[in-house]
Amino acid sequence: KFTPRVFSGIQPTNHLQLGNYLGAVKRFVEMQNSGIETIYCIVDLHAMTVWQNPTDLTRATRELAAGYIASGLDPRRSILFNQSQVPGHAQLAWIFNCVARMGWMGRMTQWKDKTAGKDAEKASLGLFAYPSLMAADILLYHATHVPVGEDQKQHLELTRDIAIKFNHDYKVDFFPVTEPVIEGAATRVMSLRDGSKKMSKSDPSDASRINLTDDADTIAQKFRKAKTDAEPLPENVEGLKDRPEARNLVNIYAALAEVTPEAVVSEFAGKGFGAFKPALADLAVAKLSPIADEMTRLMADPAEIDRILGDGAERANAIAQPILEQTYDIVGL
Ligand code: ADP
Ligand code: NA
Repeated sequence: KFTPRVFSGIQPTNHLQLGNYLGAVKRFVEMQNSGIETIYCIVDLHAMTVWQNPTDLTRATRELAAGYIASGLDPRRSILFNQSQVPGHAQLAWIFNCVARMGWMGRMTQWKDKTAGKDAEKASLGLFAYPSLMAADILLYHATHVPVGEDQKQHLELTRDIAIKFNHDYKVDFFPVTEPVIEGAATRVMSLRDGSKKMSKSDPSDASRINLTDDADTIAQKFRKAKTDAEPLPENVEGLKDRPEARNLVNIYAALAEVTPEAVVSEFAGKGFGAFKPALADLAVAKLSPIADEMTRLMADPAEIDRILGDGAERANAIAQPILEQTYDIVGL
């Protein structure tokens, strides 16, 4: 019933980091190039769920657009746009706020993590409702597939629950039950200083994070400082089982080189990190520095970025508006 359509988005906060690139943007490009219809959003309304300086938010929005394009997203082959420019996202989110249950939101591990050790009473209402807006982002386009990193798995399940409950409550088969696409070696890139935490652009305290905008020396230095154990690399991936930091570096290498983790360990078996880290840094610089250079070039012309996003918003809205109108009809608005 639903034609295949891909939707995904990233928050314009700080700078794109390596995990965003390997777990999301690189996959977005692969899906675009596979010929399927692809819609990629800069989710600025999500960014606002925690305080953003207005000037920084505008800058980060343009920078993320530049990052998308520099990584290989083509505004002619994908729709690239900014969430706040298509009003249907916020409108459908309200309807989903009335479909989703408080208990569902309270069980989200990201909500629990982001409020852990803090007074949850002081978190914004938007942060609590965030997954309902995310469901609206996806279902506003009747998207069938959503490429994301592993940290978004639970939010995707909630999107499915919202679609199912809406269809059930209104006795329709209107919203698709979307499939998460969580694939590849780098679905969860971990912090380089703590193998138990994911790398995140939203964590201000993690200076080990690799940003797409870092220069070659900075990237090399961050890999050199990355926490590891003292063992050489094992013969096979089973040998990485209880070595989260080593496994993380192998997974990063595999995703950058577009090979399996098995192929990486068999190439480096018996070698120590003294040899592996410089090889990894060289590979990362070779893959990331052309992207950083292209981002710098694109950022020099903010008016052109705004034009691309404006054009994308028009095309997105042309898909979204009829779906929103049908939703209003179904619910009796
Ligand atoms: P962040 O946590 O860095 O602020 P977002 O919440 O904006 O990132 O997520 C953007 C996309 O990047 C999502 O698909 C998310 O799953 C993916 N992603 C974020 N961090 C990682 C990571 N460390 N490894 C793999 N994918 C990630
Ligand atoms: Na995230």
